[in-house]
Amino acid sequence: MTRTDKGYRGVGMEGPIARWYATSTAKDTSRFEAQIDAVRRLAPAGAEILEVAPGPGYLSIALAATGDYTVTGLDISETFVRIAGEKAAEAGVAADFRHGNASAMPFDDESFDFIVCCAAFKNFSDPAGALREMHRVLRPGGRVLINDLRKDVSKEAVAADVARMRAGALSKVFIRYALQSFLPRRAYLKGQLEELVSRTDFRTCDIRQSPLSLDVELQK
Ligand SMILES: C[S@@+](CC[C@H](N)C(=O)[O-])C[C@H]1O[C@@H](n2cnc3c(N)ncnc32)[C@H](O)[C@@H]1O
Repeated sequence: MTRTDKGYRGVGMEGPIARWYATSTAKDTSRFEAQIDAVRRLAPAGAEILEVAPGPGYLSIALAATGDYTVTGLDISETFVRIAGEKAAEAGVAADFRHGNASAMPFDDESFDFIVCCAAFKNFSDPAGALREMHRVLRPGGRVLINDLRKDVSKEAVAADVARMRAGALSKVFIRYALQSFLPRRAYLKGQLEELVSRTDFRTCDIRQSPLSLDVELQK
């Protein structure tokens, strides 16, 4: 049975693990550029955006830096909340990073216009609860964009993605191992995500597949 008490599957991203992740993803600019473009395509200027599980906060900080959005991040890792806050301060950007669980968010109903969640949904121990919370805190008509690894990712797609990254050689070895072993075990197939969403009150669900990942667009 899946544990729902600690909020995530596997090992929590605290301390050295969080610091390693923050360093090894810092230069992954092509991934963040694609994510920024995807959000800008869907979220109108002036939108209040929630990033669920922002980790070190690079996407949230880049979105806040555009000047077009008010950005809040919610992460279960206290280390990441601290790192993201420090990085926002260094960048002189007003993004608000809060500590909390995706399936029990510390926000009022209808607080946000747009929600984004990248490389994290597969880690949630209560994914249905996280979707319900996204729906609750979203304003009517608001949208959600979830991007995550696909369960049936091929070795070739993983190899191509790792080759694109600008992380150190040892980090690349670990990332490649993770993307081929324990991360796909937690990840979802398109049909599994459609089934999860069908149990929520979202009005629309559109899922696109790339060789590496799934992009899920939901509207309230
Ligand atoms: C692999 S990191 C992804 C970080 C960032 N979104 C990115 O794209 O690099 C997964 C993130 O999910 C967070 N997380 C896991 N379970 C969570 C939960 N139940 N609620 C909020 N955050 C959670 C972790 O702390 C971590 O920051």
